[in-house]
Amino acid sequence: MGCQMNKLDSELITSQLQQLGYHTTNDPEQAGVIIYNTCSVRQHAEDKVISKIGQLRRRRQQQPHLVLAVVGCMAQRLGQQLLDDYSQVDVVCGPGRLHLLGPLIQQAQQDRQQHLALNEKNSPDQMEQFDASRTAPDSKTPCRAFVRVMRGCNKFCSYCVVPYVRGPEQSRPLNHIFEESRRLVDNGVKEITLLGQTINSYKYPNGAATYGLADVLKKVHAIEGLRRLRFVTSYPTDFIDNIFQAMADLPKVCPYLHIPAQSGSDRVLKAMNRRYTAGEYLDLINRARELVPHITFAGDFIVGFPGETEQDFADTCFLLEKVRYKNCFIFKYSPRPRTRAEKTLPDDIPANIKRQRNLALLELQNNISLHDNQRFVGATVEILVEGPGKKPHLNLPRSSKDDKNNPDIIPRSTDTDNPAVQLTGRTPSDHIVVFNGPASLIGSVIPVKISKASALTLFAEFSPIKPPFP
Ligand code: 5AD
Ligand code: SF4
Repeated sequence: MGCQMNKLDSELITSQLQQLGYHTTNDPEQAGVIIYNTCSVRQHAEDKVISKIGQLRRRRQQQPHLVLAVVGCMAQRLGQQLLDDYSQVDVVCGPGRLHLLGPLIQQAQQDRQQHLALNEKNSPDQMEQFDASRTAPDSKTPCRAFVRVMRGCNKFCSYCVVPYVRGPEQSRPLNHIFEESRRLVDNGVKEITLLGQTINSYKYPNGAATYGLADVLKKVHAIEGLRRLRFVTSYPTDFIDNIFQAMADLPKVCPYLHIPAQSGSDRVLKAMNRRYTAGEYLDLINRARELVPHITFAGDFIVGFPGETEQDFADTCFLLEKVRYKNCFIFKYSPRPRTRAEKTLPDDIPANIKRQRNLALLELQNNISLHDNQRFVGATVEILVEGPGKKPHLNLPRSSKDDKNNPDIIPRSTDTDNPAVQLTGRTPSDHIVVFNGPASLIGSVIPVKISKASALTLFAEFSPIKPPFP
């Protein structure tokens, strides 16, 4: 569950357990070990895990050899309490101790005792082994991989639990990031996404100087065989022009920034302990637009923060309209234990107002995305084909006239050895593109012509006559 950092951790856990002789199963009923990698950012995410743990109570009694592990941010937050409250839980392991998870599961299988491993201060070396232990890219999307650049966060936004559960900011050594990226590219990865909670704050000492994010981009960019490089998530201060300059100068670095504003009201931003005003945020966006051609932005907003007035919300709508994001993630405020907002500010915006503001902001963004995506119609864009799509194609090529209105019929490509399936890919600007083509295209970078655009998806036609880009 949760963020991309968790997705990476889950991949690393899978790799670690495979090296110990375990394998994954598609049938949950067959599993001898069940691991929930949890998120604590909102209460809703925790409620889902508690309900899943509850559902496993009887199965754990009937299947005494089953091992149930709860790991990640919620495991760190609740610790011993999870073991005390739920006797069916065998292992609880925080996100900074995941290098111990495999041995803990083995131990639980042998001694049938409960085991607890929580983050300790300053254990970066062992976590370095965990990151470095990955043997191969994720089997589901082998052409893309995440690489961690930093752990933890020092910002202490007043609503956020992350600094408490993932600990203080730690930048990984540049050569470790490089070696891990190079190994992944050697194994077929075409696109790397560098990960950090506030990735533009990356700092690693190098003699008298200090490496920053621009140095990481330059170093990883040089890896032969790598086609694309991304990085998330950026904090709206700590941005120096050399990062934008690197984005502009290095052709593999995608012109895309995930840069959460959280609110457009200076009063709310202050109460959130964000360290910028809405005006400063807009200046930064404009600077990025000046320096990086075709740059797109994704944002995060929290609605219903304590004391948020109609005027504050109007300021947020104004900022969202000014920036014209590619897409936004919009969340209702959820008080998190131990955070400053939870301790000092009443959660005073009623649930129905939070919901209304959430829907209103989503609609605003939806209209912007729908409008801005129309500019792609008729254009040819370059995409990295990531894998099969999720739904039957909604955009049948004109040639399959008879079936034009039947979304369940997938047209065949002219290549009879390679029947067309619905595929999905992304542009450098992170727009999702869906099209029909042979599965052999997965993992390649190809041009496609956009024929239709919705707010969330571009639909394309692939012409097999055009060869893929080299
Ligand atoms: N309530 C609601 N949303 C939150 N986020 C972080 N903490 C909270 C909270 N307590 C959102 C922020 C952040 C994203 C990952 O989750 O928008 O950028
Ligand atoms: Fe949480 Fe703020 Fe750190 Fe992001 S920058 S992880 S919102 S404390």
